[in-house]
Amino acid sequence: MLLTRSQLRIIIISFIVAPLFLLIAFPSHKNQSTSASRSVWSWLFPSGDGSAAYSSSSASSGGSPHLTKIIAHAPGFTIAENVYWRNYTYYFLTDAPWHIPELKYVVSSNHIKEYGTKYWGQVPDEVVRILSIRGPALDSHMDESKELGTSTLPEVAKAFSDDAIEVPGTHFFLNDFEFIGHYYHFMGEMFLGAWRIVQHYYYQTGKRLPTFTHMNFLRNYNEQDFADLNDPQMMWQDHAGANEFFLNAFFPGIKIQARKDWEKLAATGELYRFPLAVIGDRYSGHNGPSASWKPWGDVLRLPVYPEWLTELRDRVVKIKRHRKPHVLYLSRQDTTRRLADSDHQALVLQLKKLEEEGLVKLTITMFDDDVTFVDQIALVGTVDFFVSVHGNGLTHTLWMNSGKHRAVFEMQPKGCTVTDYSPLATAAGVQHFLVNEDKYCTPDTCGMRGCEEGVSVSQPNIKVRASIITDKIRHFVAQYKYD
Ligand SMILES: *[C@@H]1O[C@H](CO)[C@@H](O)[C@H](O)[C@H]1NC(C)=O
Repeated sequence: MLLTRSQLRIIIISFIVAPLFLLIAFPSHKNQSTSASRSVWSWLFPSGDGSAAYSSSSASSGGSPHLTKIIAHAPGFTIAENVYWRNYTYYFLTDAPWHIPELKYVVSSNHIKEYGTKYWGQVPDEVVRILSIRGPALDSHMDESKELGTSTLPEVAKAFSDDAIEVPGTHFFLNDFEFIGHYYHFMGEMFLGAWRIVQHYYYQTGKRLPTFTHMNFLRNYNEQDFADLNDPQMMWQDHAGANEFFLNAFFPGIKIQARKDWEKLAATGELYRFPLAVIGDRYSGHNGPSASWKPWGDVLRLPVYPEWLTELRDRVVKIKRHRKPHVLYLSRQDTTRRLADSDHQALVLQLKKLEEEGLVKLTITMFDDDVTFVDQIALVGTVDFFVSVHGNGLTHTLWMNSGKHRAVFEMQPKGCTVTDYSPLATAAGVQHFLVNEDKYCTPDTCGMRGCEEGVSVSQPNIKVRASIITDKIRHFVAQYKYD
């Protein structure tokens, strides 16, 4: 059946008018809109007016206590309202204990107790406790040990909440003992996970979590308090100052409190309440079903907007785009984990050839402690192909622009697939090629993390066939537009 023009027009107009009429007749109440529709709204307007302001969902009014509420979670990374803390024990005060994730995914009590004995000499009796608000037992046959959390009478809960000293702000708590004094392990693992859960909350609700105001290293020392310790992983600063630089650059004015500060608070014996906290816990992350040897295996699977990292980078530096694709070869030839000299020279030669042919812009550099982090990430933010031997500099992958036409080439000795950095490339939205001399693998094909027996990833004569990398770059450049 064919329709005339005017019949068509009527049909089209009624399609437009009918929904409008329905909207006017039955406006949806703001609070009833589903989170899905809010997500769509904020997807349309990611950083503009579409993002609603955060307001605590568990604000206490009058006679009710401040309840703990988990508002986003993946193993190792939890956002909660009203977290209570006294002398290294967290308390979750709740009338909905079933709403709290299994505790081993929030706070790794077993690990903390084990490491507390090793590194600390003191261990809290309990690392975390749920206080469940409920009335008294109906008879003496009740077995309290079967209850979720410790039964707490409503009036006791109210007194508990009233007694607590409020510490306003948005707090990032880190429960870790070791590894933090290293750019990759803090920024590339624990901070990254925390940022992911914050961005996931935004994706899910359309609300921006207020920016971090406090960085709380519960168990890592400040550099200056550190002299008498024999384990350098126990401080939060790394030797190059990256952790400190990025925290301050992303969150100007952030207050960084380390172990001595927390030990002082613990010694007061007072109860503190943190209205908004992100709790990061390395071993809770490792406990997750998708962990695969890393604390962020689960949290990095939560959906976020594609700009989740570049928005952070742009707080430090605005990136100018280059018309020609930009290759960065970050050399490690001044370190003990490096290419065989002849292979390094051949790689440089082949990369220079790409530039001479007018295909790419090439930068060859080393990052030492004299290059400021602003300069380092400003450079990385313009890079389309990042070439380097396995090492800490590859944590900077996080600050690349996303796109399937961008890639990281990470060189490792034959027999090694140490997949620390490929997930960072995936997180940043770029491709990753782990190059072993004359072949490469990708995150889905590399297999298990590690090296074959007798092979170490740290060698002073790693071999590479340059064309493995340059052929791939040629292929990319032929396939995609860069501007
Ligand atoms: C804090 O806990 C430790 C270890 O459990 C204990 O030795 C110490 O006395 C406690 N401090 C206060 C102020 O309660």
